[in-house]
Amino acid sequence: MRFFYGVATTLAALGIAGFGFIQSGAYNVAASESHFALVNRVMHQAMHNSVETRTDEITVPANLADADMIKKGARAYDALCSACHLKPGQSESLIRKGLNPTPPRLTKAGHWGPAGQFWIIKHGIKMTGMPAWGGSHSDQELWELTAFLQQLPELSTEQYAALVNPPAAGEIMHDDGHAHDHGNMQSMSEPPETHPTAEVVAEDDHYADGHTH
Ligand code: HEC
Repeated sequence: MRFFYGVATTLAALGIAGFGFIQSGAYNVAASESHFALVNRVMHQAMHNSVETRTDEITVPANLADADMIKKGARAYDALCSACHLKPGQSESLIRKGLNPTPPRLTKAGHWGPAGQFWIIKHGIKMTGMPAWGGSHSDQELWELTAFLQQLPELSTEQYAALVNPPAAGEIMHDDGHAHDHGNMQSMSEPPETHPTAEVVAEDDHYADGHTH
């Protein structure tokens, strides 16, 4: 009984301390403030475990290497994703610089297979800036993006440009079966030439903190 009271008192004290901490505003939510390394690790591991347990049911289509899939995915990637995840020859973007966690550099090989990537693209990741694209795009379109991601780490700047083949302004996305406009995501991406070489941050790896699994 005494043990029970001990546990109950400890839990109550922790609860009150936690509530006090939250109410005090001491925790800094600023994205410009980095997490402690341990917090980063724990959150990243939680994300991994969460995604992994949800990808078992996903059947990866056999046509991910189809040129048509890759081309459509490339155009969508350029419009929707490159602002955060960069493109070949680009070392930083304005939006990526300000995000915490830093969006992985998808131009460098990572460790997610197609099923994990598809799940992440479809559902997004809470409180990171990674949007869920499943509400606005069909599974077919999400697999096109996934198909393109399998090629991206191998592409040179020229191959990327040839694949994306940007249509003239105002015609974006209307010739690849897309029924809707992608707005101005494109304009958020910072073209490499606007960064003088001296200011360009050294290329990091797939993950900004250099961790591998
Ligand atoms: C506003 C910025 C932003 C945009 C736009 C964005 N993402 Fe992300 N994405 C992120 C962030 C941040 C993460 C890292 C989340 C984490 O580590 O918990 C991420 C993670 C990912 C991952 C997991 C990568 C890995 O190796 O861990 C994939 C795959 C991905 N995004 C694909 C896409 C695709 C495809 C698009 C476009 C359709 C896209 N993202 C658009 C911010 C963005």
